[in-house]
Order: sequence, then structure tokens, then C-alpha cells
Amino acid sequence: MNTHGPATRQPYDDPSDGWFPESVAAEYDAPGGANAPEVVTPIVDVLEDLAEGGPVLEFAVGTGRIAAPLAARGVPVSGIELSKAMAARIPDKPGGEAVKVTIGDMRTTRVPGEFSLVFLVFNTISNVTTQDGQVEVFRNAAAHLRPGGLFLIEVGLPSLRRLPPGQDTVPFAVEPDGHGGGYLGFDQFDVVTQQFTSNHVTVSPDGRGRFRRIPFRYVWPSELDLMARIAGMRLKYRWSDWDRSELTAESTKHVSVWEKPW
Ligand SMILES: C[S@@+](CC[C@H](N)C(=O)[O-])C[C@H]1O[C@@H](n2cnc3c(N)ncnc32)[C@H](O)[C@@H]1O
Repeated sequence: MNTHGPATRQPYDDPSDGWFPESVAAEYDAPGGANAPEVVTPIVDVLEDLAEGGPVLEFAVGTGRIAAPLAARGVPVSGIELSKAMAARIPDKPGGEAVKVTIGDMRTTRVPGEFSLVFLVFNTISNVTTQDGQVEVFRNAAAHLRPGGLFLIEVGLPSLRRLPPGQDTVPFAVEPDGHGGGYLGFDQFDVVTQQFTSNHVTVSPDGRGRFRRIPFRYVWPSELDLMARIAGMRLKYRWSDWDRSELTAESTKHVSVWEKPW
């Protein structure tokens, strides 16, 4: 899973910022990749449409990659975020000053207001590494929604079809930098517990390297639907991507939306 995480935690990193302390936050907004306008704009388009004027709440709002441009369009946006280092970057972005941020855990933190849309993007449901914890996220989302409100999740589909018998590891990136170094990424799965780790190996041209290992819990769409039902919600949309394309056997991720009953 190509996402972010700390190298080895730096001395200036605050452990209470979890896997996204200062050393990660400082690099998170690098241009390109998930920050490229061609990635961000279609996401903001869909969220603005589903919000129907808002207000909206982003769980795990991070540095405001999505929340800030959504707020810049005039949608009232709140966010919950565990990492102070990540959240500190939000006001630096256009629209970011308008995002109301609460530092806390999206499983349990309540913010004032009733929302038309709660969203949790960029695979972050998998950062909660227990099934109970993921159910808590759904319950907390439902508690923030007005009747008829929507909860949206974007998350990768577990890539177990790429796992040959007898192996537990799937490569997802081999990227030489052209100067003798490069980047390698591997996911390692425990198919019994649904735990997996993303492993990131970066080697600089001088041969020095760093190894990051970040824990996740993978979760199936059907399991997410049951979590939604436990929280009193029902599936409304399931897409393969932000272009609202149909989910197929070849899809690598999904965008799913559940509705709180009227
Ligand atoms: C991959 S980043 C996504 C940030 C942002 N949503 C985006 O799309 O760029 C994951 C974020 O989730 C936050 N996070 C992880 N677990 C959390 C939790 N239990 N409660 C609140 N935030 C959490 C991390 O601190 C990090 O900022």
C-alpha cells in the first residue's frame, strides 16, 4: 500500500503523533503523487457534490490535502486528526484557515455539529488495526451524521489475488532513481488475522538506506458493509474510483458510501 509513514522516528518526533509525526508531516505535501491536482480535484468534486452544501467532517484530516481545497469552495469543513504535526500544516494551504480541526482519535472523538457527510480517504480505515476499532470508526461517523447523511470511505482492496501459494509478500513498487539508489515497496500479509504491514525501503545513491514498516488491517467491502449496519447505516454507492466507475474483479480500490436512515 503506497502510503506514508516514518523512517525511524526522529528525536524531534512526538510519539503521541503516531505514525505521522513531524518527520513524516514535513515530507507529506511534496508535489506530485497524491498531492497532484489531477488526483485531488476529482476527489474534491465528488465530496462537494455529496455534501450538498455541508457541513462536512473529515476523519484523519492529515495536512488538509482534501479538506483545504474543499473548504476553499465554500463548503464548511471540520476535521479530526491524531497527529498535531500533520494538522499544523492545514492553515498553510488555500482554504485551510477555514477548516476547524480537533486533535483526537477518530474512533472516539466527538466534534460539535451535525454533518451531511463524513469522509475517510486514502486507505486510512486500515490504519486502525483491529476490527473493533474499525467498527468504532463507523459508529462515530454515524453519531456525527444528520438523518440522510453519508459516510464515505476510500480504501484499497486487499491484494491477496497477487499472493502466490506459500508466499506472504506482494511487491507494489520498484523504482530505481537512476543514480544507484531507489525505492522498493512490499506489503506483507497475515491472511489469518487480516493484519498486514507496508514495508518501504529507500536507498540513496551513496548506499545508505532506511526501512519503514507500518502496520495496517485490511478489510473487505462486505465486512465494511456489516460495520455500517452495526452503526445503523446502509450502502448507497460503491465505485471503483472517484470517476464513479463500476467496481469489477480487476478493481484495486473502492470508494464506498453508506447512508444514515432518514
Ligand atoms: C494517509 S494520511 C491521510 C491524511 C488525509 N486524509 C489525506 O487524504 O491526505 C493518514 C492520517 O490519518 C491519521 N490517523 C491515523 N489514525 C488515526 C486515528 N485513529 N484518528 C485520527 N487520525 C488518525 C494520521 O495521523 C494521518 O494524518
